[in-house]
Amino acid sequence: MNRPIYVPPMRPGDVRPPSKAIFAQMGEENVRQMLRDFYQELGASAIKEMFPRNLEIASQKSADFFIGLLGGPALYHQKHGNPMMRARHMPFSINAQKRQVWLDCFEAVLVDAEEKYDFPADELPGFLEFLRGFSMWMVNSAE
Ligand code: HEM
Repeated sequence: MNRPIYVPPMRPGDVRPPSKAIFAQMGEENVRQMLRDFYQELGASAIKEMFPRNLEIASQKSADFFIGLLGGPALYHQKHGNPMMRARHMPFSINAQKRQVWLDCFEAVLVDAEEKYDFPADELPGFLEFLRGFSMWMVNSAE
């Protein structure tokens, strides 16, 4: 990689993982729909060029990851191995501004998440906290 790499002043282990109760209530189809909606949002955002043209396929690969993260089966691990999320994001130059756009897209999708996806209301603040913290770990460019 021929660019200066920024290393955030944190470790991914500093971020508290989301509650496993989230998947227990939502179920697989709701998580898949949430990620579908999130990728639609990304596809209309200022960072849309970073994402593949086929947002459906990309969203469902990410959904596999989120299903495991939220307490469901480890589909992403089974299909793709160790997630190593920071390493997998290295091909993309992600600065603080792009992280903010990514986060804004996710936060937009989480408005009315209880009604749309049966997201447990009590767990929303913790999930947002996780997204804000863990997304810092994906920042790899100071520019
Ligand atoms: C900080 C802002 C972030 C940006 C700009 C970003 C951008 C991207 C891009 C461009 C891809 C490749 C295209 C795709 O497959 O969708 C990707 C893949 C992915 N991202 Fe992110 N991402 C960010 C944060 C995160 C976070 C915080 C998570 C998890 C909580 C995450 C989970 C994933 C997953 C699971 C994939 C698929 C990886 C694979 O192809 O195996 N991303 N992301």
